[in-house]
Amino acid sequence: MSVPPPSPSDFPARRAAMEYVCTGCASRHSVDELLYTCPECGGVLLLEDPDFDALAEAGPGYWRGLFDARRATRTTALRGVFRFYELMAPVLEREDIVYLGEGDTPIVEASAALAASVGRRFAFKNEGQNPSASFKDRGMAGAFSYLRALVRLHGWDEVLTLCASTGDTSAAAALYGSYVGEPIRTVVLLPRGRVTPQQLSQPLGSGALVLEVPGVFDDCMKIVEYLADHYRVALLNSKNSWRILGQESYAYETAQWYGWDLAGKSLFVPVGNAGNITAILSGLLKLRRLGILPALPRLVGVQSEHADPVWRYYQAPAGARRFEPVTVRPSVAQAAMIGNPVSFPRVRLLAERYQREGGDFRVVRVTEQAIMDAMLLANRHGHIACTQGGECLAGLLAAVEQGLLDRDEFAVLDATAHSLKFAGFQSMYFDNSFPPAYGVTPDPGLVNRPEAVMDEERKRALTAEEFTREAALAVARRAGLRGRSR
Ligand code: F0G
Repeated sequence: MSVPPPSPSDFPARRAAMEYVCTGCASRHSVDELLYTCPECGGVLLLEDPDFDALAEAGPGYWRGLFDARRATRTTALRGVFRFYELMAPVLEREDIVYLGEGDTPIVEASAALAASVGRRFAFKNEGQNPSASFKDRGMAGAFSYLRALVRLHGWDEVLTLCASTGDTSAAAALYGSYVGEPIRTVVLLPRGRVTPQQLSQPLGSGALVLEVPGVFDDCMKIVEYLADHYRVALLNSKNSWRILGQESYAYETAQWYGWDLAGKSLFVPVGNAGNITAILSGLLKLRRLGILPALPRLVGVQSEHADPVWRYYQAPAGARRFEPVTVRPSVAQAAMIGNPVSFPRVRLLAERYQREGGDFRVVRVTEQAIMDAMLLANRHGHIACTQGGECLAGLLAAVEQGLLDRDEFAVLDATAHSLKFAGFQSMYFDNSFPPAYGVTPDPGLVNRPEAVMDEERKRALTAEEFTREAALAVARRAGLRGRSR
């Protein structure tokens, strides 16, 4: 007899005995404590439900039906990333779940004109339509929900959250921290001058303590790791495995959008600290393990030439791979400008599993020029891609050129943040003012600049009526307007 599906608005009853599992020594640790690294070997951790395989008993149809039905729920705890609660963090109570409208981001297919110019059909998943305008909100919903559970269980009266950031993690941490309020206080560490003005305005507006450090993200990350070792702080970087769980929802939503079948599709993801690609690998593997996905799609990580440690690792032949951090150079994909990605050991472990399960995993590398050109090309065709989204499209172009994709393969590109956060790079392109270190020269065909209709002095010389008529004439001439036929 098959189990009747529960109402999509009922909060699930089953709780798992989740554990941290070390990616280095495979030791297991209780989740009663907030751990970032393995107490035994210092390795990075992943979270596991030891009884995960028991979920397979209900059958793939049960899970697909339940997750599909939940799309319509008004239970906010199941409305965001926790639509997939059972696959993610089945230890949280309904009252702990923080929902700010994250997740369920649209997948927008490229127009016929854009697809023709790229040579493949593809779509962007618009992660910039999350509340703080990047995918980081998925992970923060995970991390803050768990943090609320800890606060409730331990009765803590003060929790200091801390993160290093290239701009988006800090925006998300500050947003969720300010929503939850007491006893949470948010501190963010940013590399001075390496975060866009829009990104900087976000934690400031949310009331976080914003501290700027000379250097790049990797310098900030080392300071944060030191602080996490020596002080009582809740680390909100993706070293915190609860963030990874929240970000798995990207993979679940993508599979769901395509009717739980990703055959013939490839997913392109920009790689910085490698948390996002870790989460997507993990999410796809879980779907496969429960039979919800019949086969794994191709997964392609994309890195810039100016921050390419993961590409370098996979570039080497299988037997001769060694991970070496790189010194980053200025990159327009600034949010992913990371030379020593914290989650690399997770990627290595999960990518091996992915390949063992028959999935194709690879990393491609693109130039700074290609990233800018691709972002502008996308956005001239109705998209809202940030520079990292542009990096994905540049990655797709490179993969097509290198013959890595099948003829009819359809690509889903992760536009990880909203274009507005990175408007300064667009301005530098249009004004041809990139410092030489970026190596970007504008393509005149993609440049767009405002033009003055009339100067101030001329306006002052005219009456209001004359001004309107003369300005209108100037607009009509410049825009090539034709008169109305009577
Ligand atoms: N795209 C955007 C918009 C990002 O903000 C980031 C990372 C990435 C891509 C790369 O993702 O690190 O998971 O591989 N930003 C982090 C931050 C590092 O601090 O905001 P990743």
